[in-house]
Amino acid sequence: MSYVSENSLHNAVNLAATDLFTFSYKHIIKPHLVFNIPPDEAHDRMIAFCKISERVPGLMWLLRQMLDYTDPILQTQVMGVDFANPFGLSAGLDKNCDLCTVLDNAGFGFETVGSTTARPCAGNAKPWYHRLPQYDSLLVHAGLANDGSEFVIPRVEKAWTNAKSMQISVSIARTNDNLVGDLDEGIEDYRISMERASGKSSMIEVNISCPNTMAGEPFSNPDALDKLFSVLDKVSRPQPTLVKMPLNLKGEWPQFKSLLDVLSEHKVDGVSIANLRKNRDGLDIPADWQGGISGAPTYNASNDLIKRTRSEFGSRFAIAGIGGVFTTEQAYQKIRNGADLVMFVSSLMYRGPQQITTLKRGLAKMLRKDGFNSVKDAVGVDAL
Ligand SMILES: Cc1cc2nc3c(=O)[nH]c(=O)nc-3n(C[C@H](O)[C@H](O)[C@H](O)COP(=O)(O)O)c2cc1C
Repeated sequence: MSYVSENSLHNAVNLAATDLFTFSYKHIIKPHLVFNIPPDEAHDRMIAFCKISERVPGLMWLLRQMLDYTDPILQTQVMGVDFANPFGLSAGLDKNCDLCTVLDNAGFGFETVGSTTARPCAGNAKPWYHRLPQYDSLLVHAGLANDGSEFVIPRVEKAWTNAKSMQISVSIARTNDNLVGDLDEGIEDYRISMERASGKSSMIEVNISCPNTMAGEPFSNPDALDKLFSVLDKVSRPQPTLVKMPLNLKGEWPQFKSLLDVLSEHKVDGVSIANLRKNRDGLDIPADWQGGISGAPTYNASNDLIKRTRSEFGSRFAIAGIGGVFTTEQAYQKIRNGADLVMFVSSLMYRGPQQITTLKRGLAKMLRKDGFNSVKDAVGVDAL
């Protein structure tokens, strides 16, 4: 395999294309095609655009030549899965598995499809999204809208089989509709999706921390979480399991740690830290806008949890670090705090599709500058 980093012509093309995408997104696409329409509509249009693009002959090849920066220093293995690079799209943007081909060719190391639920789910009443541009953030109130895991997971399997270099994780959550019942009903909902996902993706992420549902977050309680995983442990599955952790738990670190203590006794390989922010302290957000907060306002709290998890639990869990990653320095800090993998959503919307290339190229440079030979060498160096 030849790497872009080792081919001066391809490297120059990749650099120039990244600059072109950065300029076009900032000055043309974002102001005139994305941020000039309501975010719910912009999201639908983006999905439709990607679905059309992947069918245009030669376009995906061109995208790969232009944007996919490959470099041996970025290759990593986490939970037994090989990644071309540690960067992934976090759950929520590709709920129904429509973006895999585009993301694969743009050079994502992985993506998390979903969250998907046992029953098809219409989600909360619209609007689902409000932009908070002053904070590089989106207020999210989608309420787990998706086509249902019966339909989404077969698409994941197909996309995973066809992907050239990207790994695919599927996020499963509890259906958010008026059939929601007691704790056992919720556990059965997760179990059904877990059965469906077994063997059909690179990884499974169990989302226990959606802030926008009728049932609330009952599995952010240690006893309920223990009950849930006592059942999920029995679902035989070859791929590793991550748990999507909450941000701003009442009781903060001691409560967060009590969840990790429970998970450490179960068939859980990694934790994704973390989901949307709930507390609005210091943020000026209209009171009648509902939802969890993404982007920059999640950065510090998620970094702190990543570092504490790595220092207290050592290598027990792989960590996928999520929240407010806009720059290479921020991604690198998540890795130094203990993240094996790094995911993002908001910076893709605010900065554009070349964000993946910018982060990869920048990370490779920073690793070399600090004398590391691999991503793994840098994981957790600030958490010791
Ligand atoms: C539009 C949108 C939808 C989301 N939906 C989900 C979801 O379905 N499941 C989930 O686990 N997280 C969901 N999230 C949370 C993200 O996966 C991520 O944890 C959070 O946005 C912080 O990352 P960011 O700062 O890079 O956006 C969503 C976020 C956004 C912006």
